[in-house]
Amino acid sequence: MKGPGLGNLIEIKGVTHAYKTKAGPLPVLEKLDIAVAEGSFCAVVGPSGCGKSTLTRLIAGLMFPDEGEVWLHGELVKSPRKTVGMAFQNPVLLEWRTILQNVILPLEIVAPRMPRRQKEARALELLEMVGLTGFEHKRPSELSGGMRQRASLCRSLVHKPDVLILDEPFGALDAFTREDLWQTMHELRQREPVTAVLITHDLRESVYLGDQVVVLSGRPAHTQHVMDIPIPGPRPLDMLYNKDSVDRLAVLRKQIQIAQGRTGNEERAS
Ligand SMILES: Nc1ncnc2c1ncn2[C@@H]1O[C@H](COP(=O)(O)OP(=O)(O)O)[C@@H](O)[C@H]1O
Ligand SMILES: [Mg+2]
Repeated sequence: MKGPGLGNLIEIKGVTHAYKTKAGPLPVLEKLDIAVAEGSFCAVVGPSGCGKSTLTRLIAGLMFPDEGEVWLHGELVKSPRKTVGMAFQNPVLLEWRTILQNVILPLEIVAPRMPRRQKEARALELLEMVGLTGFEHKRPSELSGGMRQRASLCRSLVHKPDVLILDEPFGALDAFTREDLWQTMHELRQREPVTAVLITHDLRESVYLGDQVVVLSGRPAHTQHVMDIPIPGPRPLDMLYNKDSVDRLAVLRKQIQIAQGRTGNEERAS
């Protein structure tokens, strides 16, 4: 069996998947190809319901494709991966634990023998990076939505995963909080090198955070368009207003319209 291309930490090759439903098979992904270079951020955009979250479950080894292959770090994914960190739109922090205890949770699972002190030191280091020093002993409900999402990012990184999967983690935040989190994400990348797949429905987010933006087609999803954004980080937020970014956003918007099966000027009714 052929392995992944050189330098690609994640490789999704010809992945086809259908869910079995009472009404029959629901094809979700069809011959999907994505390659993510080690240390890079791949932003994935596509119409609602096209299969983006399904893709994240396949990368994490929580599900397996009907056809095709998912490679991580030169290994075919055949079981759930401990070397993956995940964060979602809903931070799902446990209310009966403090923020610090929530952040160390993955270490309790993947490194149970690590001394407690060491686990806490690692968590505190991350909490400091995202500006949550002083909140480590609070409960999740005592924090704002943006702060909870910062804590969730720390939890996803605490065990130094090879791969970070972010499934619309900033989607529920207000615009300014979201932009703050984007900048935090660039700062985190400087200190915590990780290869990431970021699912988003925000094209500006994809351009600001992605080294590559992959546009998925409507369901069943295939790779409709790939855009490289070769700008080193950390990127200033005002880069979103320069001509290159505006041009990129126009291309992506057009691609999304094609993916949604709309090519004219009509706007969505809802
Ligand atoms: N476990 C499941 N069983 C059956 N259908 C599912 C299941 N999970 C998701 N789906 C369906 O598969 C499609 C793709 O889902 P999903 O990957 O969550 O899309 P996205 O994240 O792009 O919105 C949707 O139509 C969804 O309703
Ligand atoms: Mg989803």
